[in-house]
Amino acid sequence: MSDSIESRLKEERRFPPSAEFSKGARVQSHAAYTSMYELSLSDPETFWREETGDLVFRTPWKKVSEWALPHAKFFVGATLNITESCLDRHLGTSARTRAAIVWEGEPGDVRTLTYFELHREVVRLSAALTDLGVKPGDRVAIYMGMVPETAVAMLACARIGATHSVIFGGFSSDALRERINDCGAKVLLTQDGAWRRGNVVPLKKMADEALEKTPSIEKAVVLRRIGQEKCPVEMKQGRDVWWDELVTRTPSENALGLAKKPAAFDAEHPLFILYTSGSTGKPKGVLHTTAGYLVGAHVTTKYVFDLRESDLYWCTADVGWVTGHSYIVYGPLSCGASCMMYEGAPNAPDWGRFWNIIEKHGVTILYTAPTAIRAFIRAGDQWPAKADLSSLRLLGSVGEPINPEAWTWYHRVVGGGRCPIVDTWWQTETGSIMLTTLPGACYSKPGSTGLPLFGVDIEVVKDRGDPCKANEGGKLVIQRPWPSMARTLYNDDARFKDAYWSQMPGVYFTGDGARRDEDGYFWVVGRIDDVLNVAGHRIGTAEIESALVSHPAVAEAAAVGRPDDLKGQALVVFVTLKQGQDPKDLKSKLAEHIDKEIGKFARPDAIRFTDSLPKTRSGKIMRRLLKEVASGAETKGDTSTLEDLSVLAKLRTDEE
Ligand code: WTA
Repeated sequence: MSDSIESRLKEERRFPPSAEFSKGARVQSHAAYTSMYELSLSDPETFWREETGDLVFRTPWKKVSEWALPHAKFFVGATLNITESCLDRHLGTSARTRAAIVWEGEPGDVRTLTYFELHREVVRLSAALTDLGVKPGDRVAIYMGMVPETAVAMLACARIGATHSVIFGGFSSDALRERINDCGAKVLLTQDGAWRRGNVVPLKKMADEALEKTPSIEKAVVLRRIGQEKCPVEMKQGRDVWWDELVTRTPSENALGLAKKPAAFDAEHPLFILYTSGSTGKPKGVLHTTAGYLVGAHVTTKYVFDLRESDLYWCTADVGWVTGHSYIVYGPLSCGASCMMYEGAPNAPDWGRFWNIIEKHGVTILYTAPTAIRAFIRAGDQWPAKADLSSLRLLGSVGEPINPEAWTWYHRVVGGGRCPIVDTWWQTETGSIMLTTLPGACYSKPGSTGLPLFGVDIEVVKDRGDPCKANEGGKLVIQRPWPSMARTLYNDDARFKDAYWSQMPGVYFTGDGARRDEDGYFWVVGRIDDVLNVAGHRIGTAEIESALVSHPAVAEAAAVGRPDDLKGQALVVFVTLKQGQDPKDLKSKLAEHIDKEIGKFARPDAIRFTDSLPKTRSGKIMRRLLKEVASGAETKGDTSTLEDLSVLAKLRTDEE
């Protein structure tokens, strides 16, 4: 990876779209992009009036935005039901019978839901949820895998104004419980189990453990995905109900009325809470509201993926993360797109799975993460070579910096040299893509995440907020609110202010470091706060540390990132044990402890025991030094504040 950083600094190649691609694209030239971008900042009223024309509002908006930072409102005065833009509006068009979701399960089973069928499923579930007592503003937790019903669940909540919180199926029961309790969810939607690499992930069993201490939960709805034989579940009387039984009950008249002709909600009605990691211990419940989020997801999907009726678009993210929310569910469905959805792992049964899916279904647009691309490179070119990938016409990347080697491979081997690549930078908090290159309009540079999208006033600045010169590294900030901006952190508005709006007055701090080159292209280096990006998963060092110190043998812990060729960053933890504890066997015990507290995806790549951690005289752990030790680099910079220099020397000689 250090090679990659070097090569990103030297990267000068430009890849323009082919004339043919540009000719059919929505935005066909750099000049056209620039004039749209400039209009979006100079006259947002006109720009957004035009761009929101496709969407369904019951009451039209009166004013684009209003803000008293850090709070902002968008599309003021509008009322809407977001699902009418995602579902109902397509029923009167040719999309009615078009596939909304083409789903493939890991064992190879395939299901297709047309827009008509998806709408029907959402109506049925939303009526059933109303009859369970779910009301507008109530929170509903969703702990499911990659099945079409997860999208149905999200949309059914939105249809009746309930705020959903999807909790990634890789989280442990402890992590699930913590999130349910933080948002006070009334109902949990889950499934018996999910297929992952030939094994069953027992979601319901984990949910049962979580629900032992979740006083707000009244009902749990359980989808049968695997079946009793391979995944037996216990249904708790009075609390648990089978999904299929629930939706086939005759709904009350009131519930059916609300499901068929749903209520309209205010533009700022809370749509969802999504937990993500920050630099301090507790996960942050990022809150998104309705109209601004919809507009952000819709407009970016439409322009970045340049969708056409003939496309089969595939975003490989998990619905449990923001990419799944915006680019599997709300964005593409609001565009009437046909979306591929796949349940399982990329290497099940072998590394040919993705290529096989593309060939079998005729996927035209693929949106995936650099970590996956690097894993495919390692698995070998023979896998993509076996499949016919000629249906692909556009490729996307998201979640972490892409190194030019991976970019070039993606372009050459997967895209056959003909598909533009859109590298998209954004965050859970931004709700939708902020930086990229519009595929028919702008050339891309491998490793650069391109130019700002509409309405995004973004800059690289020095500590005090002065803009950096071209190619000078600094902090990436957004200088005015944008429609899909997170509105707050659920139950913690003070933290919202502090985490994003306190570094520099009036600007949103992303937590990322970046530079902007002489062509105005952004190069995002990665997080400069205490957040790691391990295989595209956002992990807070403080979360890992507090999980570790909750183990009875641990006195103190520090988690840092180390560059990793495959995962981008690997997670290394330094642990000091309590007096009398024997490190023997503790490595695996601590790894299991992390599985339990957070989830397997957060398992450290290396655990190092040490007698003490390097600290400043005021007692702060010096992470910078630990990072250097973890990556085997020479100590750079100032060590004069280190309390005891011998700690450092000792750490270096300790075995990993
Ligand atoms: C990183 C994922 C470089 C970045 C959508 C950001 C990226 C964090 C890119 C957000 C990219 C995302 N190039 N880095 N194209 N996309 N990141 O909230 O550090 O899971 O702050 O949202 O991922 O992660 P999150």
